[in-house]
Amino acid sequence: MTAKSNQWWETGVIYQIYPLTFADANGDGHGDLQGIIKRLDYLNNKQENGKNSLGIDAIWLSPINDSPMIDNGYDVSNYYDICPVFGTLADFEALLTQCHQRNIRVILDLVVNHTSDRHPWFVESRSSKDNPKSDWYHWQDANPDGSVPNNWLSYFGGTAWTYCPEREQYYYHAFNQNQPDLNWNNPQVRQAVYDIVRFWLDKGVDGFRLDASSVYSKDKYYRYNPVKFGTTDKNNYNNQDHLYDKNLPENHHIIREIREIIDRYDGRVLIGETFIDSPMFDSAVFYGVDGDELHLPFNFEFTFSPWYPGYIQREIQKKERITPKGCCPTYFLDNHDIPRHLSRWIECSLCTNPKAIAQAAATILLTVRGTPVLYYGQEIGMVDYVDIPLEQRRDFAVVKGEDGELPPARDGCRTPMQWDDSVHAGFSFGKDVEPYLPVNDNYEEVNVAQQLAEDDSILKFYIRLLEIRKNSKALTQGSWRSLIHYPYEHLAYVRETAAEKVLIVINFSYEKPFELDEDIEPDNWLVLISNIQNTGQEIALPKTLQPFEISIFKKV
Ligand code: NOJ
Repeated sequence: MTAKSNQWWETGVIYQIYPLTFADANGDGHGDLQGIIKRLDYLNNKQENGKNSLGIDAIWLSPINDSPMIDNGYDVSNYYDICPVFGTLADFEALLTQCHQRNIRVILDLVVNHTSDRHPWFVESRSSKDNPKSDWYHWQDANPDGSVPNNWLSYFGGTAWTYCPEREQYYYHAFNQNQPDLNWNNPQVRQAVYDIVRFWLDKGVDGFRLDASSVYSKDKYYRYNPVKFGTTDKNNYNNQDHLYDKNLPENHHIIREIREIIDRYDGRVLIGETFIDSPMFDSAVFYGVDGDELHLPFNFEFTFSPWYPGYIQREIQKKERITPKGCCPTYFLDNHDIPRHLSRWIECSLCTNPKAIAQAAATILLTVRGTPVLYYGQEIGMVDYVDIPLEQRRDFAVVKGEDGELPPARDGCRTPMQWDDSVHAGFSFGKDVEPYLPVNDNYEEVNVAQQLAEDDSILKFYIRLLEIRKNSKALTQGSWRSLIHYPYEHLAYVRETAAEKVLIVINFSYEKPFELDEDIEPDNWLVLISNIQNTGQEIALPKTLQPFEISIFKKV
């Protein structure tokens, strides 16, 4: 087994920061690295006994490299520098040092499926058919009838091929036309990328989240993808079987090569975005053989789940089944590409109590077996900014569909962090600037300062739950077992080691009590946290779960 056990990410909690909108220190309306430094106590100040701090173990920064920002940094023009919007390399080094002093690891987003079209590699590659970098990207002639080289589509809409007059050829881009895909078949490309990996590891970063890591490899014959039978997804990309532009065997060689580099350094984690909607594979293939690929492959199970216990349990059970022995599952509710979970789940649950859903969702995320990843703001129950006016939109990477309509932007889940009820929700220290994206109107009620002052807030619940998790071997290392075969009203599951047993119960019904008749010892349970029972009391298990009860008990 390549994987070493007892690594920090197996028991730790990761917090995703969207640097553009987390905290702005220089007052220009854009989040920056100094802004993050100013907020580190909030993330982890446990060494100082910080009771108002989350106590997370790592931050994952969405891209901070130099970029023209067509896709908010997911289009890199210089991998060796920091985008001036965020600061300088010295600011990054300061952030790294200060994070490490607080036991916060720093994970970078590594965007190497593609570069920006302004990256010098592409500028050279596009200049002629015979320059030294001419095959660093995927270049193809038009078909004899003048049509694009094949039927591959961009995930952001339309054909994946864009014509380049200088070369009289098309180049391939899985995303926007400003994001040409690197040709990983070229060993020089691999070496150039691996140099980047080493550069940041030598600087001391604690790992990477590999962006779009299931689409690195492409079929060398550029064969047409089969069209799926009978599907009519609005995003045409999803109507193809991605046999030839996704998850090819070569993709796994590449990740193994990156992993080999990572393994030469101590304690570095390799995460990847591995969403593959294939009936034949699931993201567990990205753990590799004997755990020699990703430590944590991100899949999207909770992000596509309705707020329904049967569905959620099925996803957990599936992950329990497919995660190879010795490897670590990982879960998240939100990220920067999808509507926030409260926005999704309030809509589908008919529930008018967002706090209850937020606390129940937090409980699931932080008590299933696996590494949880939080997305900034979820811990205070931030929701999407719906219908940001066109003139304030920032996400134009997605292109118009065949119906001529612009798909919904991803801006709604990327709005500024709501720190307090001052101007710009305390996000920007510049009072007279427009923040990068508009602040959600609800910031006066939903913000960190407010919730730190309220004992039963969503944030206080997160802080307590994170602490409980940290102190419990059952919750960080124990097995997971459901007490219910097919839940339709509630979840009841156990996390357990030889020495510790923890029971988690959640009633999804907001109006009905529920009989708790599961097969489990009824007596002597300590209430670790609950929105109904008295925390810290030793009790017999309640026979009835109250509407929306969320309780965690520890066997004594
Ligand atoms: C996935 C990232 O999460 C998304 O934000 C980005 O637009 C695409 N990859 C392209 O890099």
